[in-house]
Amino acid sequence: MDVESRVLAELSQDRYSSGEAISHKLDITRSAVWKHIVKLRENGYVIEAAPSHGYRLVSRPDKLLPAEVEPLLKTGVIGSRIIHLDKTGSTADLARGLIDESAPEGTVVVAEEQTKGRGRMGRSWQTPAGKAIAISVILYPPLAPARAPVLSLVTALAVKKALDAYLAEEAAPVALKWPNDIYFGDKKLGGILMEMAAELDRVRWVVDSIGLNVNNSFKNTELEGTATSLAAELGREVNRRELLAAVLNQLDRAYAESRTESGLAALLRVFEKHHLLQGKQVEVTTEAGVNRGIVLGIDDEGRLRLRGPDGKVLSLFSGEATLAGPRPK
Ligand code: BTN
Repeated sequence: MDVESRVLAELSQDRYSSGEAISHKLDITRSAVWKHIVKLRENGYVIEAAPSHGYRLVSRPDKLLPAEVEPLLKTGVIGSRIIHLDKTGSTADLARGLIDESAPEGTVVVAEEQTKGRGRMGRSWQTPAGKAIAISVILYPPLAPARAPVLSLVTALAVKKALDAYLAEEAAPVALKWPNDIYFGDKKLGGILMEMAAELDRVRWVVDSIGLNVNNSFKNTELEGTATSLAAELGREVNRRELLAAVLNQLDRAYAESRTESGLAALLRVFEKHHLLQGKQVEVTTEAGVNRGIVLGIDDEGRLRLRGPDGKVLSLFSGEATLAGPRPK
């Protein structure tokens, strides 16, 4: 935790904390305590200062600030550093820039609003201010480039696990669609965008991004029939800070597990269990054309295994998969 987060942790809504006590506890000067209080106020915290009593926290902003998220983390790598922006073009672009500045593994870029958010296949991605979760995580996985796509599946699974744990009482029907979609019922709730650079035999870096619709609404938009948010499905607002922490905690676990062959294989079997397309007749559009078949599962490199109409088994690296009806006779 950085010093600002530690100052915040010392402030309570129920009682006053004196500047002197905070400075003692954190081993910083009283003027340093004051500077952090000013910074916290700039970020939207309402902090009352009463002479001879000290400081009292009156309210917190609804923002995914490091000081809000870090105290909830139980991670080893993910969230080693959190960079928060009120507004940016795309967190993925920002993360890519940070790699050139040797950002440590696990650095998370989080934005309240994106003005040029992007999804897979050149699509745009909406992140209205203060309503969704939009993050990009910098990773340096010791993987051969051909295996990198598994990270997208591992990330989608981590998001599902976080949602399941967070919404345990509501038994939310959260499912996954290869390679990167998170569904609530039959509508898209979120997606993973994975970008990477590699040499022939090793991945140099990965920017693993997650977009999750939390309190936003698609009502009266062109996405109304296909996209949804947690608030729209549950009929209540969801605490983004707790959900983001749950996602980062699950991602940390899944990323560590995916580093062993057996751990990764186990994760991919769990992905198959929650896969919307498992055993279904699908159409997969790839750069090379359209493939039809029944989904057999996911192989160890994250490829979708299909049995085609001629009985041959195909393994697809990437593509856009949709459910297909039975073939006309
Ligand atoms: C998809 O389903 O097509 C993937 C969507 C990924 C969206 C996230 S939001 C954070 C990061 N920044 C972006 O511009 N895109 C990703």
